[in-house]
Amino acid sequence: MTTLTAQAVHFAYRRRTVLHDVDLSAQPGRVLSILGPNGAGKTTLLKCLNGLLRPSAGRVLLGDRPLGEYRRRERSAAMAYVPQAEPSRFPMRVFDAVLLGRRPYLGWTPRRADLEAVAHTIDMVGIDHLAQRDMHELSGGERQKVGIAKAIAQDPDVLLLDEPTTYLDLEHQLNVLQILAGLAEKRRVTVVMTIHDLNHALAASDDIVVMKQGRIVASGAPSCVDPELVAEVYGVHCDVITHRGRPIVVPRTEIGLHGLPRTDAEEVKVHETREEEEPAS
Ligand SMILES: Nc1ncnc2c1ncn2[C@@H]1O[C@H](COP(=O)(O)OP(=O)(O)O)[C@@H](O)[C@H]1O
Ligand SMILES: [Mg+2]
Repeated sequence: MTTLTAQAVHFAYRRRTVLHDVDLSAQPGRVLSILGPNGAGKTTLLKCLNGLLRPSAGRVLLGDRPLGEYRRRERSAAMAYVPQAEPSRFPMRVFDAVLLGRRPYLGWTPRRADLEAVAHTIDMVGIDHLAQRDMHELSGGERQKVGIAKAIAQDPDVLLLDEPTTYLDLEHQLNVLQILAGLAEKRRVTVVMTIHDLNHALAASDDIVVMKQGRIVASGAPSCVDPELVAEVYGVHCDVITHRGRPIVVPRTEIGLHGLPRTDAEEVKVHETREEEEPAS
């Protein structure tokens, strides 16, 4: 059971600061979702939280020790990271890809317990039918599930996931969110994810952090996501309604051609039409 804490974290890519003074605390047995528009700094924050990037100021604590004090193997036994699904770089069977998650525990060869953990995880994530396939042959959604399985096989205290539901269809999105909730509840894992679907975030999270332009603009229970916040952060007007006892965010934006910005050519045409319509004086 391990808490993950960010204290006054700043991060800059060269001279452009993309994280300003970020504080957060992710607790064992809870799912924390990081929300915010594209470019807000969510991925950068996750990478600072897992030690892939080093904050230019502030610090990250895993338990009560700064991340930098952990040895690599020790850190990867404690914390797993699932990046956004990427094309796989070399040929590998799905089973072996998941087995890589056992790396922090492996000696020269996998032991029976490692193979069993992999088989159990493959079953839990529902990718048994893919186990003997090659990573190259998989769809984005299938790869995403393999990435999640690999991280779970690592048996981490803290699990970080970058948009784990993005490439999945609705059934598999819900399936992954249920698995994450289960890991938090049953194994007391500290789960931190980024996610774009506000309604899934509201349904699946215990805690929410909302980012805009590298800063945290709101945090707390899912109920902190209200119409004012959505308008401020995403520039979208919405209603938050209650459906079967649960809050649902419904955008007011109508989808239609009239909502599109006009091209120059269309602008001219509208102008000409108006002139034609003008009554002769
Ligand atoms: N490797 C990089 N080098 C320079 N700028 C980057 C790099 N990665 C991300 N950025 C910039 O940092 C900002 C935050 O990016 P990111 O953390 O990926 O946001 P999010 O995940 O919320 O979409 C963006 O403006 C992005 O363009
Ligand atoms: Mg991102």
